[in-house]
This record gives sequence, C-alpha cells and structure tokens, in this order.
Amino acid sequence: MSHLGERRTSFEVARERLIVALDVSTASEAQRTVGELRDAVGMFKVGLQLFSAAGPGIVSDLVRGGEKIFLDLKFHDIPNTVAGAAVEATRLGVSMFNVHASGGHEMMTRTVAAVSESVTKEGLSRPKVIAVTVLTSSDDSTLEEIGVSARSLDQVKRLALLTERAGLDGVVASPLEVEVLRQAVKRDFLLVTPGIRPSGSDLNDQKRTMSPKEAMANGSDYLVVGRPITAALNPRLAAEKIITEMAEGLENG
Ligand code: C5P
Repeated sequence: MSHLGERRTSFEVARERLIVALDVSTASEAQRTVGELRDAVGMFKVGLQLFSAAGPGIVSDLVRGGEKIFLDLKFHDIPNTVAGAAVEATRLGVSMFNVHASGGHEMMTRTVAAVSESVTKEGLSRPKVIAVTVLTSSDDSTLEEIGVSARSLDQVKRLALLTERAGLDGVVASPLEVEVLRQAVKRDFLLVTPGIRPSGSDLNDQKRTMSPKEAMANGSDYLVVGRPITAALNPRLAAEKIITEMAEGLENG
C-alpha cells in the first residue's frame, strides 16, 4: 500500500516549525495577530511583555481557540518554585515553555519530573521543556561581569549539554550557535532559534541574524520570528515567504 498520500510536503513540515512572537501589550492586539495568521503558522510565542500585561488568561484563551503556545517566561528560581510554575504552565495547556539552564541540573530535573507527574496524574498533554543557555544579548564581557570566565560559545555548549543531561527537550539557540550545537547534542534535541531575518528585511535591533533557509539547513528545528511577520503590511504573505525559505533549508539540510 502506498503512503505517498500521507507524506507531508517540506512546506507543511516547515509551517509547523515556525513560531510567531506575540510581542504586544494587549490581549486584543495578540488576538488580532493570531486571527490574521491562524492556520498559516505552527505556534505563537507569549513572552514576558504580553504575559505581564494580559496574564495567563490570554494563554488559556489562545489554547482554547486551538492555538499551540510557546510560553517564553524563562523560569529561573529555586527548584521547588520553578517546578511549581512548570506544573501551572502545563495546566495552561502550552505546547512549549522554557527555563534558564543556569538554574542548574537539580532545578531542571525537578522541573521535568514535576511536569511528568502532573501529565500522568491529571491526564494533561506534555509540553516540550526547553532551556535558555546564554542570552544572545550577553557577550564575553557580560559573562565576565557576572564572574563567568568561559567564552560565551563555550558556556552555551556547556549549558546545552547540561540541559540534555537533565532530560529536557532542547534549548533556545542563536543562529550562530546552531551549527556547533547540532554536532554536540543528539539529533532529537530541539534547537529553537530566534534572530531570524528573511533575505532583504529590516534587522531592527537584532545584530547577529541568519536567514530562515540557512538556519534550517544548519539544523534548527523551530524558528522564532516576530517583527518581520507582525510588522509586515501582509503578515500572512510574509509568513508564507519565510516558510518557503525554511522549506528550502530543510531540503538542503
Ligand atoms: O521581532 P523579532 O523577530 O526580533 O523577535 C524575536 C523574538 O525572539 C522576540 O520575542 C525576542 O524576545 C525573542 N528572542 C530573541 N533572542 C533571544 C531569545 C529570544 O530575539 N536570544
């Protein structure tokens, strides 16, 4: 029996891998963007700005509307507190959330264990748990300020391997880290990459960017894109162009 009819095209695979950042300060703006892009992209990212303004209600509303949500709150606290927050994120029904890997091995293992326990006990869907290694706004001198003598790429690698050992699903990685990390971690360890700019678009405040095609070809699993889509005259068209570039990268990767 042929399975050809069931095979997804690279475009369909790429669409699932595009996460649009909802960096706005009201629930209605977020809903408007989601309304424009619904079915055109794989996931939406709710970060500190929208969460601080609109609270968990916007997350549950979007989840109830059928959207997949990456809750980007970068939890970093004592293990018990992060584990508790992780259970609440799981109850909200998000598809992905993150913690800071610099919280350490125990913080991360306790988080994953608490998520697994609530998934089993309460019959919830298991979100992907990923970690931030070194923020891309930090460089070697920022690390030195806080007493870390390692070079930033070495620190990124160290924290990514710690994250993998702690049993998390992946890390957020800048485009320039993806190639090195892809070789260091297992193939199913997720690399989620912001700092993406399609060829010819405005860099805004991003400094070290990469095109969607290059990032996918280098081994990214998910791309996070904000303004190139949300500030475009036609966000749906902008998203489709990015997905087309991602699909080319997947085919070349
Ligand atoms: O608008 P733009 O495409 O620059 O948005 C990128 C999104 O990814 C923003 O929400 C930003 O906070 C987030 N991000 C980033 N760099 C990181 C981590 C997250 O740009 N290292």
